[in-house]
Amino acid sequence: ALVDKGNHRHFMAKEIHEQPEVVGHVLGHYVDPAKQLLKLPEMPFDLAAIPRITIVACGTAYYAGVVAKYWFEQVARVPVDVDVASEFRYRECAMTPGGLALFISQSGETADTLAALRYCRSQDQHIASIVNVTESTIARESDHIFPTLAGPEIGVASTKAFVCQLMVLAVLAIATARARGAIDADEEQRLAAELTAMPRHLSDALHLGPLIEKLAQDELTDATDVLYLGRGASFPLALEGALKLKEISYIHAEGYPAGELKHGPIALIDDTLPVIVIAPWDRLFEKTVSNMQEVMARGGRIILLSDRKGISIAGDEATAVVELPDVDPFTAPILYAVPLQLVAYFTAVHKGTDVDQPRNLAKSVTVE
Ligand code: G6P
Repeated sequence: ALVDKGNHRHFMAKEIHEQPEVVGHVLGHYVDPAKQLLKLPEMPFDLAAIPRITIVACGTAYYAGVVAKYWFEQVARVPVDVDVASEFRYRECAMTPGGLALFISQSGETADTLAALRYCRSQDQHIASIVNVTESTIARESDHIFPTLAGPEIGVASTKAFVCQLMVLAVLAIATARARGAIDADEEQRLAAELTAMPRHLSDALHLGPLIEKLAQDELTDATDVLYLGRGASFPLALEGALKLKEISYIHAEGYPAGELKHGPIALIDDTLPVIVIAPWDRLFEKTVSNMQEVMARGGRIILLSDRKGISIAGDEATAVVELPDVDPFTAPILYAVPLQLVAYFTAVHKGTDVDQPRNLAKSVTVE
């Protein structure tokens, strides 16, 4: 079927706005609505028995993998390695036999990711992939696939595929936790309910569009560099936010773990550098805020992404705030993807770049 932009100016805008709906499809596939428990088909490996998980991907899919590392380790207590495919395929990684190798790819055709898969095949790993295109080479060469059900993604910069990858990874982390006895049925139900609430929260976040459009125009369009900070699972979100901005607005951007600021990037802070702080109210909030204060003490301009509680505590000190719905810290990375997409999108629109087909980039990289 022909895919068009509907009422949107760009495919990217359309795909950002489709997220509540496609996340609904993920829930329909992976969560039993009556029992509020996960429903996963039978898998050719035992989540309770795998000694280790190795996650490999490229680009935005890789950042979904880094978020998942935090989830698998915290909730399921299973050791996780995560790497970009172009490094992984050549580093002759020593692997524990019987481990689970998990590949994340929108297209299912990325050459480096496929080569990494074949290496893991030679290392006695169970091979599973999280793919959007289920008739793809990576899907075909996997023992098991977890579809992301995002529908066709046309914009080169990945948006809805990323959010669906996160949803599927969250489901897998919860399922692994349950299989290993790291959480009980009540906790599974509670986390599944948090996931079930995501379409509503994502819709609420999309209402921030006009506010973020103004913020992008006032604070970002003229910037030459932007720094993104976060801790815990908000750190990979900082990386993804910076990648989105680079890809489509051509503004140099860097994501950094907030606690590492003092070991380098703090030297860059002055009143021309916008710093986007991703800080949902969680157990690391106070620590992130103290890093934010270090930036402000040096004249830096802060754009704070947080929730009601976080903004009531630290919002006064920021140059601008974006208030997201209150969610459980576990699902926060899924929600915070949306304002980061909108920041990049509106900045690029104001700069007049080719949002859907940025220069030098391809939707899927099938050569090395
Ligand atoms: C390209 C695209 C990115 C994507 C990456 C991985 O660089 O521009 O948006 O994240 O490839 O693609 P995949 O299809 O494997 O997810």
